[in-house]
Amino acid sequence: VIAAVEPIALGVNGSRHALQADPKTPLLDVLREMLRLKGTRLGCGEGECGACHVLVDGRSQASCTLTLEAVAGRQVTTVEGLDAGLREAFVAEQAAQCGYCSSGLLIAAAALLRERPAPTEAEVRAALDPHLCRCGAHPRVVRAVLRAARGGAR
Ligand code: FES
Repeated sequence: VIAAVEPIALGVNGSRHALQADPKTPLLDVLREMLRLKGTRLGCGEGECGACHVLVDGRSQASCTLTLEAVAGRQVTTVEGLDAGLREAFVAEQAAQCGYCSSGLLIAAAALLRERPAPTEAEVRAALDPHLCRCGAHPRVVRAVLRAARGGAR
């Protein structure tokens, strides 16, 4: 007899979920496969590239290395749950080329702006540093985050 798995509570983008899944399931898989939130991307799968970052209780974290049980009862925000102001600044500055890293960068920017609503360029660069971008869009991304800050985005 297989024991029923207890549902695990999780808040995502303001909605509450009770998820019936292996507690060791990566948060990234929960978001993409169970909740169909496809904006969060799988890159390295090892916590090194930043593509899969989401906010967990407001902090930017890699969803590929976090398990469902590790985030039980916490509030997760994905790129779909961010305010429009930040995304609009990225569009205005054309801050993406292939776009694969964009959702992770947007999450890092959101985490920064929640803590530092008017960051310096150096602070923006430091916050984005862990996020790999192969297209070389970083200068435009930095401009976008500074534009978003001027516009009061969070
Ligand atoms: Fe998670 Fe690279 S896919 S950090």
